[in-house]
Amino acid sequence: MCGIVGYTGGRPAAPLLLDGLQKLEYRGYDSAGIALLTPEGIRMVKNAGHGGVMALEILAGKIGALPMAASAGIGHTRWATHGRPTDINAHPHLDASGEFAIAHNGIIENYMPLRARLRAEGYVFRSETDSEVVAHLLARHYSGDLAEALRGALAEIEGSFALIVMSSRHPGQLAAARRNAPLIVGVGAESEFFIASDIPAVLKETRDIYVLEDGEMAVADRAGVCFTDFAGDPRPKTVTRVTWDAAAAEKAGYDHFMLKEIDEQPQALRDTLSGRADKSGVIDLGIAADFFADVDRVAFVGCGTAYHACLVGRELLEQWARLPAETAIASEFRYRQPLVDARTLVVAVSQSGETADTLAALREAKKEGARVLAVTNVVGSTVAREADEVLFTWAGPEIAVASTKAYTTQLEIMALLAMFLAARAGRLAAERSAALLKELRSLPAKIEDILARKEQLRGLAAGLSDSSSAFFIGRGLDWAVALEGALKLKEISYIHAEAYAAGELKHGTLALVTRETPVIAVATQRTLYEKTLSNVEEVKAREGRVLAVTRAENKELAAAADEVFFLPPVSDDLAPIITVVPLQLIAYYAAVRRGNHVDKPRNLAKTVTTE
Ligand code: AGP
Repeated sequence: MCGIVGYTGGRPAAPLLLDGLQKLEYRGYDSAGIALLTPEGIRMVKNAGHGGVMALEILAGKIGALPMAASAGIGHTRWATHGRPTDINAHPHLDASGEFAIAHNGIIENYMPLRARLRAEGYVFRSETDSEVVAHLLARHYSGDLAEALRGALAEIEGSFALIVMSSRHPGQLAAARRNAPLIVGVGAESEFFIASDIPAVLKETRDIYVLEDGEMAVADRAGVCFTDFAGDPRPKTVTRVTWDAAAAEKAGYDHFMLKEIDEQPQALRDTLSGRADKSGVIDLGIAADFFADVDRVAFVGCGTAYHACLVGRELLEQWARLPAETAIASEFRYRQPLVDARTLVVAVSQSGETADTLAALREAKKEGARVLAVTNVVGSTVAREADEVLFTWAGPEIAVASTKAYTTQLEIMALLAMFLAARAGRLAAERSAALLKELRSLPAKIEDILARKEQLRGLAAGLSDSSSAFFIGRGLDWAVALEGALKLKEISYIHAEAYAAGELKHGTLALVTRETPVIAVATQRTLYEKTLSNVEEVKAREGRVLAVTRAENKELAAAADEVFFLPPVSDDLAPIITVVPLQLIAYYAAVRRGNHVDKPRNLAKTVTTE
């Protein structure tokens, strides 16, 4: 997820673009840049953050070097996916002639074959990014009309994008296009136009907004703005008047970042899967095959939510690849003289990539000669840099302290990794792999189905928000999800919550179950259903209140429970990716009802850099 902004009008563009980028910093902040159209050609400044100084702060110090008379340009603030956060990888990107500039948010899935082909045709690439291909494609398709050149480029690229492009051959003109990434056009005073990923970027200048839909393009200059589809046919659009204040706009109108991030999960899952598997079931993790040679054990390490993702990773890996695997809470790992050696693959999972405990575990593993694979959301983070190999989740910046979209994308990576290693071990037939991938592709729509039933979840949360204690139970993969559900509830609602393997409850904890204690029973695993049902009956016999999160066909459980939330159909193995979503929402609505500070809960920090 990145922020892009463009301006064309009668005022100096550089300060307007910088201001827009500052408002979009929540979309990405590891590097930033601005390019302007001037009579002498395109002029550009761009950089990554350095030495603890934020990228935009450094950029702000440089814009004085740009010609202030320039009144059209584009800017970008980056959250790296393809290519490290470096000065060269920062956007905008230019074609080789320097006549075309682009700013891109999204992922160009087929950038590798495109880059290979363009290189063979003589185009010289400067950056490691997927986005740079668009600049070269523009040059390649250009024959006098910028919009035509963009259409030509769009016909070749696959993936998601919000793009703003410009050319020194067309002073004052910007062209933009959208597919699966947000893009708006703001109408300023006296024939000026702003183009941006999000409304906050333009709110200071205008409240009159056109919202582009997928498959739409805009071309703006001082004469006006016109909208077409990718074939060039006109698209009628109407202006929307935005009434949000600036703070609400940053959250796209949501009350909290957490809810926004919960809603972003379908797209985050699509992005994280993109380019990593083909339709026939072959997984490409972008890691050389010999990295996994001779691995005979896998250890997953992480903290908090990331640790809960590890639990799912271990289960899938053991089931699919039949490879011995263990999980360790990162803060425990280094102190127990872990049994790892050169044949152990240590998978270090961390959203931020800066968690001190996870880093310490990673270093301990390397000291023992293990090879370390990081799973992280932040390109350029310490975990990413110190690991031998990295699999990035492409969830975009997660701002709420309570992790949501980072977790579900970590689960998706866990599934891909387990499938990859199972296929390598000859234990996953191509048809099964293709079926699992097909299901992974279907999960975003299933999450959208759950998100459409928020009101029901708000009601269920109301029923438990006055409780002082709650239990989550489940077996197998449901237990792993129950642990995450309990963590979500306690960290933002401050209700004491514990998760138990459902069969364990009767070994002591059942003594705490009363009419006042809600028990959230997670039951998606078909082979374990009867057993979980018995555990629910045990709770009911002690007058406990049960909320079941389960499959529609589990009628006996629905009848036994006081309340029930039905999940869309899903396989047992991939169920955790969708099952956690109602638990996230229950925690969210309970916290809101209790009047808590949802995005910044007491005593907690987003990135925990102390051991
Ligand atoms: C999750 O909601 C938490 N706030 C916390 O448990 C978090 O997952 C943990 O601190 C690990 O963070 P990391 O993924 O950035 O390493």
